[in-house]
Amino acid sequence: KRIAIFASGSGSNAQKLMEHFKRNTEVEIALVLTNNSDAYVLQRADSFEIPSHIFDKHEFYKTDNIIDLLKNLSIDLIVLAGFMWLIPKNLIHEYPGRIINIHPAILPKFGGKGMYGDFVHKAVMEAGEPEGGITIHYVNENYDEGEYIYQAKYRIDKGDNLEMVKFKGQQLEHLHYPRVVESIIKKIKK
Ligand code: GRF
Repeated sequence: KRIAIFASGSGSNAQKLMEHFKRNTEVEIALVLTNNSDAYVLQRADSFEIPSHIFDKHEFYKTDNIIDLLKNLSIDLIVLAGFMWLIPKNLIHEYPGRIINIHPAILPKFGGKGMYGDFVHKAVMEAGEPEGGITIHYVNENYDEGEYIYQAKYRIDKGDNLEMVKFKGQQLEHLHYPRVVESIIKKIKK
């Protein structure tokens, strides 16, 4: 079965997925897609010899090019890993229940438009939350609103700064995303 990863930035989660599936004979990461030609994830894809595709707003929202590309590669599952744009309706309709995302908070708190990266961690800290967490969820037409697949929490200790909170969240993401993606893709029937 075949995965396409969408990412807009560093791609540390994408990297963990590439490492995880590298020697898997049944699951292949067949393509990395990004809206950002400077995204470090492109270098990560290169180093794993995974092809990549850079697209702009017009291609993503006004054409079916991306869908054609995914179909031609027989992609079974779309995995978002730090992808910043809202997924258009046509793509959701082509891949019902087959697009998943990871969010660095325990949804439904600290989600929605504009809630990404450091903004999430800052908001969690400013709210004085005793815990942070991650949510892996299906993607629908609204930011961070699809059905939850998996959530995990970490403790925020007194004195934790932004870097530490971020680090704790990232550790959890890296630990769980690859295995959750694997369990989801195993259930997909060809
Ligand atoms: C992660 O925190 C993820 O939860 C969010 O964007 C971040 C991506 O980080 N959706 P990276 O590019 O995988 O390092």
